[in-house]
Amino acid sequence: MFSSSLVVAAFLGGFLLDSSYAALNVSVPSSPPASSKPLVSTLLSFSIEQDRWPDWAGTNAPNPFTRNALSNFAKLTGTPPKIRVGANSEDHTVWSPIVTINSDSFPPPNTVTPYPEATSIVVGDGYYQLSRFMLPGTQMTWGLNLGLDNVTNAVNMAKSIIKAFKNSAVKQSGVTLSMLELGNEADLYSDNGLRPSGFSVSEYVSDWESIAGPVATAVGLSKTGVSFQGAAFANQGFTPTEIFNLGILSSAPGKDITTISQHHYSAAFCNGGDFPLVSFMSKANVRGNLTIFEADIAATQQRGLRYVLGETGSIACHGAPGVSNTAGAALWVVDYTLQAATLGITETFFHEGIGFKYNFFQPISLNRSIVDGSPLNPLQPPQVQPSYYAGILLTTFIGSSGNAQVVELSVPDDNVSGYAVFEGGKLVRAVFVNLHAWLQSSTGTRPSVHLSFSGALSQGGKKTSVRRLVIGHADDTKGLTFAGQSFETSDASPSGKVTTETLDLTKGLDLNSTQAVLITF
Ligand SMILES: *[C@@H]1O[C@H](CO)[C@@H](O)[C@H](O)[C@H]1NC(C)=O
Ligand SMILES: *[C@@H]1O[C@H](CO)[C@@H](O)[C@H](O)[C@H]1NC(C)=O
Ligand SMILES: *[C@@H]1O[C@H](CO)[C@@H](O)[C@H](O)[C@H]1NC(C)=O
Ligand SMILES: *[C@@H]1O[C@H](CO)[C@@H](O)[C@H](O)[C@H]1NC(C)=O
Ligand SMILES: *[C@@H]1O[C@H](CO)[C@@H](O)[C@H](O)[C@H]1NC(C)=O
Ligand SMILES: *[C@@H]1O[C@H](CO)[C@@H](O)[C@H](O)[C@H]1NC(C)=O
Repeated sequence: MFSSSLVVAAFLGGFLLDSSYAALNVSVPSSPPASSKPLVSTLLSFSIEQDRWPDWAGTNAPNPFTRNALSNFAKLTGTPPKIRVGANSEDHTVWSPIVTINSDSFPPPNTVTPYPEATSIVVGDGYYQLSRFMLPGTQMTWGLNLGLDNVTNAVNMAKSIIKAFKNSAVKQSGVTLSMLELGNEADLYSDNGLRPSGFSVSEYVSDWESIAGPVATAVGLSKTGVSFQGAAFANQGFTPTEIFNLGILSSAPGKDITTISQHHYSAAFCNGGDFPLVSFMSKANVRGNLTIFEADIAATQQRGLRYVLGETGSIACHGAPGVSNTAGAALWVVDYTLQAATLGITETFFHEGIGFKYNFFQPISLNRSIVDGSPLNPLQPPQVQPSYYAGILLTTFIGSSGNAQVVELSVPDDNVSGYAVFEGGKLVRAVFVNLHAWLQSSTGTRPSVHLSFSGALSQGGKKTSVRRLVIGHADDTKGLTFAGQSFETSDASPSGKVTTETLDLTKGLDLNSTQAVLITF
């Protein structure tokens, strides 16, 4: 417990002795400002690389690790994260009547890519029926192959998906299909050989319509309550605004588009490279990576559609070691996800694959290092990675009202961010993230900031409770705790008791570098 007198002592001690200490005044409004944005229960959602979907779901029974890891989030928000299955492998998947679940071929691993994606994935009806192993209430989006440019195959896949969700075991599971996504990152097709060079956005729109049309007709899409997720572009090679201007929404299948997805990574590790973790621990870089979407978000919402980051993460091509798998990246996830919400991005789907470095968790045992592919003996058991704690903090912040609003707070420090959430017009929680990097190589006294609150909050000596995301060093890959609990357990269940501190708002609080706090009012 942290009493108010201790906070004062820390304040004075810091002030007198430590020049790296900074006092920050923050005004926290007691009701939502006009600029606040909706904060949906599924803001934190996941995208899964399609090749190894059975490993995530389980084949004969649910994968217990996946279930527990996701249910920790669902308990906090009242709704499981949404799940999109697709990505690169969605354009390498074909349906076959003679395959039961799936049959994949993988290239050999190497040090940059210890867990390469399958080059070919052949699936049968049983593959989509594994959806029943997700948590009750999960809403899913399934990928369809546009890369192959084969109407028959796309229709076969769509029929198998729709049939799966009519299967009684899937129905009883309470898992529902909300969208189909036809094609992943088509703006890269001319680079990755799925179309000739020079493949243009107008060729894309006509290809999409020529396959989406027969798909929608074959499955009676508009009668199923299922819609299309549109765009799913990698970069801004093609944009939602361009496809709207090319009339995609007035085509017959385009009328079934309800959501626009763009993908984003802040860097790419496809050929390796050295990425500084500190560049992710920067408010300016987080904002610089997201504000590029403002015009597309506005164009999408003007047309009455939802806008999501349907696949995202720190560094493309499965993440970079020393960055994506670290505690610093967990703080990046918190700031990035909430910053996205304040820009009107409804959901952020963090991409996950077996053995990928940026995963929130690894749902199965691994026999190769995710960092460099070296053999692991004994096997590494299923486990959470640092970003998982960001997920726990975010879902605690979102809460279970299903009706929250979020606003960014103005914090007068280049690398300390703050957000507040309101329910029923009242301030309920705030989060502060100190992105200043405290690394294993750092020496001297760990810097901290002191947050002083002004506005209605600071009056009346109100007591509130504080949960801290405690991190040893930004470049640690384990040993984090949130509110005193660790999730680094054999089944992703928290160990230890929840410990909160009591905070007197008139006194404010100290926040170490490379740490985050969640305040409940
Ligand atoms: C913080 O706010 C207090 C009270 O409003 C004020 O006295 C003080 O000067 C402010 N400090 C800074 C650094 O702005
Ligand atoms: C299209 O897909 C169908 C079904 O998988 C397959 O039989 C057919 O050969 C494919 N067509 C081409 C041109 O590849
Ligand atoms: C914020 O972080 C970025 C990236 O590490 C750094 O370049 C910048 O100097 C930091 N700003 C402050 C005020 O420390
Ligand atoms: C996006 O983030 C990366 C990593 O922090 C950074 O190197 C890059 O400059 C950022 N881009 C923009 C446009 O801010
Ligand atoms: C890991 O398991 C895969 C699949 O069973 C196998 O092909 C591979 O050789 C194993 N790698 C090591 C390093 O044991
Ligand atoms: C802040 O960091 C200092 C130095 O590592 C440590 O002694 C202290 O316990 C930390 N405070 C909190 C609240 O984590």
